[in-house]
Amino acid sequence: MVIRMRKIMIAPSILSADFSKLCDEIKKCEKGGADIIHLDVMDGHFVPNITFGPVVIKSIRKCSKMPYDAHLMIERPDKFIKDFVNAGVDIITVHREVSIDIRSVIRKIKNYAVEAGIAINPDTPFEKVKEHLSDVNYLLIMSVYPGFSGQSFIERTIGKIRDARKYIDSNGLDVKIGVDGGVKHHNAKKIIEAGADILVSASGIFKGDIVKNIAEFRKIVESVNLH
Ligand code: DX5
Ligand code: ZN
Repeated sequence: MVIRMRKIMIAPSILSADFSKLCDEIKKCEKGGADIIHLDVMDGHFVPNITFGPVVIKSIRKCSKMPYDAHLMIERPDKFIKDFVNAGVDIITVHREVSIDIRSVIRKIKNYAVEAGIAINPDTPFEKVKEHLSDVNYLLIMSVYPGFSGQSFIERTIGKIRDARKYIDSNGLDVKIGVDGGVKHHNAKKIIEAGADILVSASGIFKGDIVKNIAEFRKIVESVNLH
C-alpha cells in the first residue's frame, strides 16, 4: 500500500483584501505562513462580477515569492493564457463549465511552464472532471457559487470532496484538491478530513487580523489526524 503524506496548504484569496494596500496585505499573508496567493479573476460574463486582470497581477507579483494561482472565472480563458503567464502566475485554473474546449485550454496552459488547475461549480458533478484529472495538477472544488466572497459554505460539497479524494487516491493521480468558498476556521477541519489539500479563503483571512487568522488555520491543520 502506498502511504502518501498530505501537506495541507493555505491559500488566501485577495478578493477580501484592502485593495488600497494590496502589497502590504499580501506581505502579511507571507509573514503569517500562507502557501499560495489565490487571485480571483472575473469578467462579468462567466460570473456576475468584475475584478482584475493581468495588469494588476503583474504589479503585485513583486510583493511576494509565494506561488500565485490565477482562478479564471472568465468565459474565454484561451484568449488570455499568455497574458497571465507574462504577468508571472505559477498556476492557472480554468472552469470546466466554460463553453470552449477545455482540453485544448489545459494543453495551452501546460505548454507554458506553469501548472494547470480545473475548477468545478457546486452544481457540476464530479463525473464531469474525471476524464481531465490526468491532465491537471490541481482540482478546485467550488463550495459557493463563484462571483463573490463572503458567502456561506454549501454543505453538500463535502460529498464531492470525498468522492474526488477517493478517486484521486485510488487511481494514484498526482492532483491536489483545493476547496474555495466559505472556508472558515469553524469548518476547516471537516473540509480537510473530507480530502482537501488546499484551503482557499478570502473573508476567513482578510476580515480581522491576517497573521492571526492564518495562524489559527494552521493550528486547525495541525490538529487533523491525516491517516
Ligand atoms: C468566489 C471566489 C473565491 C472567494 C472566496 O468566486 O472564487 O475565491 O473569494 O471567498 P470567501 O472565502 O470569503 O468565501
Ligand atoms: Zn477563487
